[in-house]
Amino acid sequence: MSDKKMMQAVVCSQKQIADGIFDLVLRAPAIAEKAIAGQFVNLYTLDESRLLPRPISLCGIDSAAGEIRLVYRALGKGTREFSTLCAGDLIRIMGPLGNGFTLRNKSAMIIGGGIGVPPMLELAKRMNADEPDVDKTIIMGYRDSQTFLLDEFEAEGKVIVATEDGSLGTKGNVLDAIRAHDTEADVIYACGPRPMLKAIKNHALSNGIECYISMEERMACGIGACLACVCSTKNTNPHTNVRNARVCMDGPVFDAREVDLS
Ligand code: FES
Repeated sequence: MSDKKMMQAVVCSQKQIADGIFDLVLRAPAIAEKAIAGQFVNLYTLDESRLLPRPISLCGIDSAAGEIRLVYRALGKGTREFSTLCAGDLIRIMGPLGNGFTLRNKSAMIIGGGIGVPPMLELAKRMNADEPDVDKTIIMGYRDSQTFLLDEFEAEGKVIVATEDGSLGTKGNVLDAIRAHDTEADVIYACGPRPMLKAIKNHALSNGIECYISMEERMACGIGACLACVCSTKNTNPHTNVRNARVCMDGPVFDAREVDLS
């Protein structure tokens, strides 16, 4: 279980930025000061009967202002409750949780698909700040032309878009876009649904590209309690003697070679 403490955050602002997608800014200095791209927080609902928190990845970290930004899809009861929060409201929160991305100082593809798009914005900003001379291409995959955060990605560098229905950019998935544009890099950082991560892992392996994937889609309680997030790993865990890892505690970011996505 996580040794992190629950705390209160103040809602600074919230707006809807696409169909079912909300952009929430919270004042949470203790989290903003420590967090890195790829980490997540647990948000707790007001309804005490729903004990499990909702893990949500960090889309933005402003340590100077003490603020964090969460862009999430309102899908179930919990996230729909969060979508009603207004400036000045309080929310219980825990974080930062998980391991986050480590920058490798190598030319990179930053890839996000669906609700795996938001955490890659903070990573792109981090790369621009910490590795300004390193080449990067941002590849974002959406279902249709109802995109979100795209203008902000465009402010960070070259962006390639894929949409499933072909209404914008390359028709297909992020891998179709990578192939259509002959995109190359020494390292891949990716977050998105499992089939997308599996395809990216295979692409990386067959092209000899280092690859780090965030498997946050698989999380539930986010604090090591429910085991809903267990994934198979190549190596045996020295503590448990089994070949698995908890995405919320050992991840959500893994070296793609270490996890079994079959
Ligand atoms: Fe519950 Fe990882 S999400 S143990």
